[in-house]
Amino acid sequence: MSGSAPRAGSSSAAGNTAGKDSGEQHHWFEPLADFVGPAYLRYSFTKGTAQETAFLVDALALEPGERVLDVGCGPGRHAHALARHGCRVAGVDIAERFVALAAADAPQGAAFIRGDAHALPLRAGAFDAAISLCQGGFGLPVDPGAPNDASILAGMAAALRPGGRIALTAFSSYFMVRHLEETDDFDAAVGVNHELAPVKDAGGEERPFDLWTACYTPRELRLLAASAGLDVLHVWSVTPGRYERRPPDLESPEFLLIAQRVAF
Ligand SMILES: C[S@@+](CC[C@H](N)C(=O)[O-])C[C@H]1O[C@@H](n2cnc3c(N)ncnc32)[C@H](O)[C@@H]1O
Repeated sequence: MSGSAPRAGSSSAAGNTAGKDSGEQHHWFEPLADFVGPAYLRYSFTKGTAQETAFLVDALALEPGERVLDVGCGPGRHAHALARHGCRVAGVDIAERFVALAAADAPQGAAFIRGDAHALPLRAGAFDAAISLCQGGFGLPVDPGAPNDASILAGMAAALRPGGRIALTAFSSYFMVRHLEETDDFDAAVGVNHELAPVKDAGGEERPFDLWTACYTPRELRLLAASAGLDVLHVWSVTPGRYERRPPDLESPEFLLIAQRVAF
């Protein structure tokens, strides 16, 4: 995200994300999560959870009792809200710090595990719906020179039962290039933006973190979804805290993909 929030990265090197032993770090986001901790929920882009969740309950027709996977769940704000709606939610995140925060005050029906979105540690077909919001792994490339988000969408699709639904947000390439700031460095070859952003922890200490955000056009999202065996139902333009059924435009920061696993 440009300019205001920990949506991506840290200064540590990108690394192998396979095999998550406790304590080992495998993704450049993890030191940022360690540093920001609960202060993540002070950032303005996290304040629209209730609106976003209510919108998704409607758009995905989520019923109480349904099994929902939240990929890159962070401290669990959407997972908690969906569990309070009555869903049975599993949150997966690579950052141990965020998994611990999510689990600490989890309502009944929400459970959290550490795992890599590129190799989801889940039974195939176990979920009725899957979400990945606010660059929940998707859009945070392990190697910023070669974004590899296709495997995240494929893993989410595999975790769904046939007919299961997906909601995923991705940062808009259009918005990014229209609003580039001096601190942004957008790699046009791969559609990844880099910025060095100041991040504050709970005590108010500020540190700079390198942030990499892979950006998308609606067409790219449609192509990725199709290759993951998904039927695309909608691509809407959205703003955090203001999810709506708005056709893709150039002025909204994110696209919201709504898709369904092909039913055999
Ligand atoms: C900007 S936060 C979004 C968190 C949450 N979805 C939200 O809306 O607040 C990005 C999250 O993705 C997680 N993440 C990044 N890469 C991941 C990966 N490969 N697998 C699982 N989680 C990942 C980070 O640890 C972080 O919690």
